[in-house]
Amino acid sequence: MSKRLDAKNLDVEALVADPATNVIVCCGSGGVGKTTLAAAIGLQAAESGRRVVVLTIDPAKRLAQSLGVDELDNTPRRVERVKGGTKGGTKTGPKKAGKGAEKGAERGELHAMMLDMKRTFDEIVEAHAAPARAAQILANPFYQSLSSSFAGTQEYMAMEKLGQLARSERWDLIVVDTPPSRSALEFLDAPARLARFLDGRFIRTLLVPARAGSRGYRAVMQAGLGMVTGAVTKILGSQLLTEVQTFVAAMDTMFGGLRERAEATAALLRAEGTAFVVVGAPEPDALREASYFVKRLAEERLPLAGVVMNRVHTSDAAGVGAARALSAAEAIEDDASASARLAAGVLRVHAARMRAAETERQRMGGFTLAHPTVPVAYVPAFAEDVHDLSALRAVATALCGAGGRTGQPTAE
Ligand SMILES: Nc1ncnc2c1ncn2[C@@H]1O[C@H](COP(=O)(O)OP(=O)(O)OP(=O)(O)O)[C@@H](O)[C@H]1O
Ligand SMILES: [Mg+2]
Repeated sequence: MSKRLDAKNLDVEALVADPATNVIVCCGSGGVGKTTLAAAIGLQAAESGRRVVVLTIDPAKRLAQSLGVDELDNTPRRVERVKGGTKGGTKTGPKKAGKGAEKGAERGELHAMMLDMKRTFDEIVEAHAAPARAAQILANPFYQSLSSSFAGTQEYMAMEKLGQLARSERWDLIVVDTPPSRSALEFLDAPARLARFLDGRFIRTLLVPARAGSRGYRAVMQAGLGMVTGAVTKILGSQLLTEVQTFVAAMDTMFGGLRERAEATAALLRAEGTAFVVVGAPEPDALREASYFVKRLAEERLPLAGVVMNRVHTSDAAGVGAARALSAAEAIEDDASASARLAAGVLRVHAARMRAAETERQRMGGFTLAHPTVPVAYVPAFAEDVHDLSALRAVATALCGAGGRTGQPTAE
């Protein structure tokens, strides 16, 4: 039995109930449970009396349906049947807003929305350009392809939406889910990348002749494009050049505003009320990614609240260790009766599960050794996917209860 370092406890219950926490960003590698955890954390916060909005990204269809956000309309929708969210149904009547998250359950509300990347980009254009210009930009094919496919657009738009929600001042807490980026961290780069893109050589090259707005434009333009994206020009030809020119000229008017917004969003991520929660799982790849996130957040000086280890295997019979279960199985296996054989089979399944749990524990122990100061909470692997409110509540309860603090069965 090797000595294991116990991880510090990530107290999610306190984190979400703390009025100073205004933004929680759930990040982690693909498929670990970011969307699930974002929704469960939002639910927990709403039930602790806060007005919460969860910004989800591509939630599983059934989860979206049970949150009531299966249409992409880019607007937060109130989630029904959230305890403490039914203002009309409370005996006490309306309360004064203001201090008093702890005033409690009557005030809590959960709202959810699903990010519509293209619509968010359109809204930025509409907010920053005069109506005629905006219409021109929105109709431009170059814009249309940029807004739906520019690498990192989804990451940027998620951050932009976060900025919008924060500015609205409607929310005590905004919980942000993040997209499954291939590089897993693209959303951190998104504001800076957009700022670079807008300031970049490519755009400047295009803008010079567009500003000059004259003859010789095409020649200069082609030279500019040739320098930067020779292959693209060859394939796309002059039709595109005209579209790009129109687009860039129209965008020019809103560059300042966009850059400011990107910077403001980056600042919001560093603000005091923001907390990052890295979602991991006790699998080698997920742990490696979680480690990377933790390091990267530290490098970026972004406020890490802790790591949630999701889908941890446990057993209700955790008191019976693998070795004991196996020897019990052997002891009864010779018995010819069907029930004895069945019992032996169950014991062997249990033993295998306890071994898997022990392997997971060792892996998570390795993570803690590498990051001894990072608080951790645990969520068990449920038998079924988490697709409705009661399952989300079970996740929240597990996260905030004793299991969330210790995670594992204390086998051995
Ligand atoms: N603790 C859990 N027990 C059982 N199933 C879970 C658990 N956590 C998440 N799931 C299920 O795992 C699947 C993936 O979860 P989720 O969609 O939250 O991951 P994600 O990190 O958001 O994925 P993506 O990177 O694709 O956005 C879902 O079907 C979800 O219901
Ligand atoms: Mg997701």
